[in-house]
Amino acid sequence: MKLSNKLILLTGASGGIGHAIARRLAKRGVRLILVGRSAQRLNHLARELNLRAGGGFVLSADITTSAGLDIIRTALMALQEPLDGLINCAGVNVFSLLQDTETHEIERLIATNVTAPLLLTRLVLPFMNPVDGRIVNLGSSFGSLGYPGYSVYCASKFALRGFSEAMRRELGDSPIQVAYLAPRATQTDLNSARVNAMNQELGNAVDAPEVVAAELEKMLTATHMHDRYIGWPERLFLWINSLLPGVIDLALRNQLPVIRRFAQAGNAKALPTTSTHSL
Ligand SMILES: NC(=O)c1ccc[n+]([C@@H]2O[C@H](COP(=O)([O-])OP(=O)(O)OC[C@H]3O[C@@H](n4cnc5c(N)ncnc54)[C@H](OP(=O)(O)O)[C@@H]3O)[C@@H](O)[C@H]2O)c1
Repeated sequence: MKLSNKLILLTGASGGIGHAIARRLAKRGVRLILVGRSAQRLNHLARELNLRAGGGFVLSADITTSAGLDIIRTALMALQEPLDGLINCAGVNVFSLLQDTETHEIERLIATNVTAPLLLTRLVLPFMNPVDGRIVNLGSSFGSLGYPGYSVYCASKFALRGFSEAMRRELGDSPIQVAYLAPRATQTDLNSARVNAMNQELGNAVDAPEVVAAELEKMLTATHMHDRYIGWPERLFLWINSLLPGVIDLALRNQLPVIRRFAQAGNAKALPTTSTHSL
């Protein structure tokens, strides 16, 4: 797909990765519909990108509510042209052991990372360009590899990956393509100070959001979109995990004391820890 003058709806535009994607696509002449809850951050980005002059606009909407989805539906119905792309980028994270995770946190995470992209995809399909429409779902390495401290997040991204695969096949005889983009850890506000400190201690690589935006551009501009998994050795770990999960079980078992210490740090309900590490 040639990006110039295409009309693409991007959720999570007010966040770190969404911001980088918006900047990159705007430079390529894409007309963007930027979605997020924070009108202030969206408007700031719109001014930076000179969005309106380029034919784009912002929609301040909570995608976990029917009112938020109505705002998007109304805007799409008012369009005089089809939508060329949907990028489901909005997402939230919880880093804690399951036993320490509140019910409302689990519900909010599943509503944002799973239910919202499903409902939004269903909403957007009738408005998609019937000749070449593209849908990309932002997953994670943790959508293929279960990781301690991220059980709820992993559940959501595994679900999103399954959804992407099923939709790719459901639309297999149509010109609308669906693919899944899985970043590894990326430097954004999604990751708390605790997560950043843990990644540093474990030696986990962390990408700049621009790395994700560059991968997304490659996907959108390819004739046939394919799922992409960012980072090496993460891709190797995912491959080993799919063939020999016991090997990854063992490696993560060795990391477990560190992960547990960070997951429980600052948690009033946490069990006592023997660690003296401070954050
Ligand atoms: N950062 C990482 O390490 C990493 C790694 C792998 C995958 N990812 C995935 O990449 C995507 C983007 O993450 P990020 O790192 O850019 O996170 P971020 O900086 O925290 O941004 C999250 C975005 O999601 C939006 N959002 C959250 N809840 C929403 C809701 N109810 N309605 C509408 N928008 C909502 C936020 O907008 P408002 O707050 O304005 O609503 C914000 O724009 C996510 O799907 C995440 O799971 C991130």
